[in-house]
Amino acid sequence: MILEAEKFRNFELAGWQEIPAGYHDAFGPLTTQAIEPLLNAVRLKKGMSFLDIASGPGYVAAAAAKLGATVLGVDFSAAMVAHARRIHSGVEFREGDAEELPCGNGLFDAAAMNFAILHLGRPEKALLEACRILRTGGRFAFSVWARPDETIGFGVVLRAVELHGEPRVELPEGPPFFRYSDPDECTRGLIVAGFESPAVTKVQQLWRLPAGDGLFNAMKDSTVRTAGLLRAQTPKVLEKIREEMRGALAEYTKGDVVELPMPAWVASGVKS
Ligand SMILES: C[S@@+](CC[C@H](N)C(=O)[O-])C[C@H]1O[C@@H](n2cnc3c(N)ncnc32)[C@H](O)[C@@H]1O
Repeated sequence: MILEAEKFRNFELAGWQEIPAGYHDAFGPLTTQAIEPLLNAVRLKKGMSFLDIASGPGYVAAAAAKLGATVLGVDFSAAMVAHARRIHSGVEFREGDAEELPCGNGLFDAAAMNFAILHLGRPEKALLEACRILRTGGRFAFSVWARPDETIGFGVVLRAVELHGEPRVELPEGPPFFRYSDPDECTRGLIVAGFESPAVTKVQQLWRLPAGDGLFNAMKDSTVRTAGLLRAQTPKVLEKIREEMRGALAEYTKGDVVELPMPAWVASGVKS
């Protein structure tokens, strides 16, 4: 019998294997906005060893390398790793699972995980792993979306599905998408994993997408769980959702772009 967490992992992996280029185009300009706060939170400096966990297209790894760190990026999707190697040719990327990192104990001075904790079947395990690979006194930071009443892109799509669609479609069950969108939950997770001095700060981010169907297309073609939710709807329902989203975005539209507030939390701790 395949455990639910494993089904969820396989579902996520299959999804990420399909979308590196789409993710890079749609989400890259957004998730890169958290790099500076993450690298500040781990106090990254020239000469440090740094691990980018669930590195995707490798944005955080590349930024850390540019600052003079010795860097490794790890992602479980071979397609993402290939994409990252292609766009950041001087940086090392390796296939590996955030819940079972392919790295020895205490090897890194700092580590970060940008917008990946919500994609993990066993996030607690990944936090323990981040702690294991750090030296004592090493720092870890992760970013996560704020709740959908603040992250307008998620709020708009989820409200449209709630209004017109079937929100309880059969998808492998993972932990709640917005579980860590709560500073207390971030703090708890860090402490349980072995970090001290937890700190959680909000980062304001703005997502610029083509007006009209830019958000609908990004959610349908460049995500995994939300795309699964959308693709499980009938074509007629999907059309209603698309229309609803277009209407809801009117107030955020400026000429041929929409500008959506997409704040995030950046949580960090020190390995004790
Ligand atoms: C939302 S993307 C974030 C990518 C990147 N960190 C960024 O800055 O945009 C999530 C990434 O997590 C990876 N991922 C999901 N589950 C993973 C796991 N269990 N182990 C390693 N990588 C994982 C996916 O392949 C994907 O590249």
